[in-house]
Amino acid sequence: MPRVYPLEPDAATMRRLIDEAAQRVIAHVASLAQQPAQNVDDAAEFARTLIEPLPRKGEPFEKLLDFLFDEAIPRSFNAAGPGYLAYIPGGGIYHSAVADYIADAVNRYVGVCAPAPALVQLEANVVRWFCEIIGYGRGSGGVLTSGGSLANFIAIVTARKALLGDDFSKATLYCGDQTHHAFQKSAMLAGFPAANIRELPSDGMFRVRIDALDEAIARDRANGFTPFLICGSAGTTATGAVDDLATLAGVARTNGMWFHVDGAYGAFFMLTERGRAALRGIDEADSIILDPHKTLFLPFGTGAVIVRDARQLRRAHSMHADYLPQFQQEEELIDFCEISPELSRDFRGLRVWLPLKLFGIEPFREQLDEKLDLATFAAEELRKIDGIEIVAEPQLSILAFRLGDDDEVNRRLLQNINARKRVMLTPARVAGKFVIRICVVSHRTHRDRVEMALEDIRAAVGEVLRPGC
Ligand SMILES: Cc1ncc(COP(=O)(O)O)c(C=O)c1O
Repeated sequence: MPRVYPLEPDAATMRRLIDEAAQRVIAHVASLAQQPAQNVDDAAEFARTLIEPLPRKGEPFEKLLDFLFDEAIPRSFNAAGPGYLAYIPGGGIYHSAVADYIADAVNRYVGVCAPAPALVQLEANVVRWFCEIIGYGRGSGGVLTSGGSLANFIAIVTARKALLGDDFSKATLYCGDQTHHAFQKSAMLAGFPAANIRELPSDGMFRVRIDALDEAIARDRANGFTPFLICGSAGTTATGAVDDLATLAGVARTNGMWFHVDGAYGAFFMLTERGRAALRGIDEADSIILDPHKTLFLPFGTGAVIVRDARQLRRAHSMHADYLPQFQQEEELIDFCEISPELSRDFRGLRVWLPLKLFGIEPFREQLDEKLDLATFAAEELRKIDGIEIVAEPQLSILAFRLGDDDEVNRRLLQNINARKRVMLTPARVAGKFVIRICVVSHRTHRDRVEMALEDIRAAVGEVLRPGC
């Protein structure tokens, strides 16, 4: 009898594993719309019951699938479902999950070009397409990351290496008070003192005030600092506000500074006509982050950073070791480890490449246009509800509203909306006020779900204004 190695299943076992998993996955995905928008009431307690020592013996696959699909997965935010209008949804297109299966099963090495040049090229194409969407020209380039945070980090380190020497203790960075904290966190991880990060006040539309930026730069220069980098937002998380990117680019240019744009949420709206109008000037940025796991609807775990002059990425990250294969000398062949902090990495390009090749870009553009329409529709309908104030009009697909002046009332309103579990909304604090956001991003969210959200908001407004009725 040949010896059986459990870690090397035979063909029949492989098929059974994937069939059984696929059955559960398909049933789960097909019922996303009927599942509650969130179901975490006892989830933390349940999580504590799962702590266990290193397993010594195996358990049947079916039992583990039962546990995952009946116990663990349902006790969560339904982040893939149509009612998830919270934070920044992603959705998770199914085709990307299939791509991940292929990528993980073939398990080729793409950190360096030589071991799998064709696969590296597919991923490089994806990055090229992102540059094209933004309007970056020849010489631009970038890399796929695990998300926007790592993308920010790569951009800031690249800028630092391009413009500053080893002592950058007097270099200052500028962002808005609405900028996602991933920027400040990355700046600190890149070695900048927190005290050198200037958070500038916003205008009435939650965009960085240019006069405040000009003043801060002049003041810092007069005080012996080196103004170094401006971060603009192409869609903030709280209200979806888009900074005046063209003007920020001009300020950066005039002052010899690096212009970085956080487009984690908003940059893919460049696929739409309205997005291109709102994001005018984004192509003047030196670096941009985009999150396919947000506005390209991919599963979590895919971000991107692109840089106008890709040579800067290489300058900041390149380091060879003699146990590695030779790096590529020609410009068009890329070693991802030479332009990012990672060496070994998953073949994350496939989960972007496969859906884009399967469908072309058009369905993605349509989806984003639909989200812009839905946010406008939601704002129009909310305006008709007595007492509701739209605090942030949709500039892209996020809006924020509030009922009267009392934060406590708005907290209760949010609770009552979410208690119905057809949609999940999350709050933000802007201009000192507690506001409720609606963020329409998922490819599974359509008009019917936004109508449900509006119904639930109307009903919840009635409850908090007329308790006991
Ligand atoms: C505007 C913005 N920038 C950056 C990030 C951080 O990205 P990630 O969560 O992919 O690390 C987020 C996350 O929601 C975001 O909304």
